[in-house]
Amino acid sequence: MKGSNVPPSVNQVEFNPFLHQKELLDFCNGQGIAIEAYAPLTTGNKLKHPVLLELSQAYSKSPAQVLLRWGLQRDLIVLPRSSKTERISENIHVFDFEISGKDMARLDALNENFRAHGNPNDPDLIRSLPNW
Ligand SMILES: NC(=O)c1ccc[n+]([C@@H]2O[C@H](COP(=O)([O-])OP(=O)(O)OC[C@H]3O[C@@H](n4cnc5c(N)ncnc54)[C@H](OP(=O)(O)O)[C@@H]3O)[C@@H](O)[C@H]2O)c1
Repeated sequence: MKGSNVPPSVNQVEFNPFLHQKELLDFCNGQGIAIEAYAPLTTGNKLKHPVLLELSQAYSKSPAQVLLRWGLQRDLIVLPRSSKTERISENIHVFDFEISGKDMARLDALNENFRAHGNPNDPDLIRSLPNW
């Protein structure tokens, strides 16, 4: 925002309940910037977490669908990736159920600053990027 007089419309960052960047989300919401969540499925790392398995059973949805629905209900643009037709279809079918406020709060509380990808604030990572 300091580098341009055109405000950004979308900020694409890693985001899921296990990396619940609430401060960033609140800031972007306040500025009218949409957050687009990459790795919304934790790249598969947390799909067997007991809370996800419990909610998956309660809502008759897969753990992946619960994660995606959480993102939608937190007003994120969710960007899951799958190489499998049946999973792409599964990942689309998240508009026919709603996670309760109580269960949303349980998912919010799963934050552990888990990153499947690097931290963009990590100086080593920044140094390793091509010089654009
Ligand atoms: N802007 C950036 O810096 C940045 C960084 C990272 C990623 N991204 C983008 O964000 C998108 C998603 O990120 P990501 O691929 O890292 O993470 P992700 O979407 O959280 O996870 C993808 C992994 O989850 C598996 N998966 C997908 N659907 C599933 C389901 N329903 N049940 C179980 N497993 C499932 C996939 O395996 P299968 O393929 O075997 O289904 C794949 O291994 C990508 O398209 C990528 O281009 C952007």
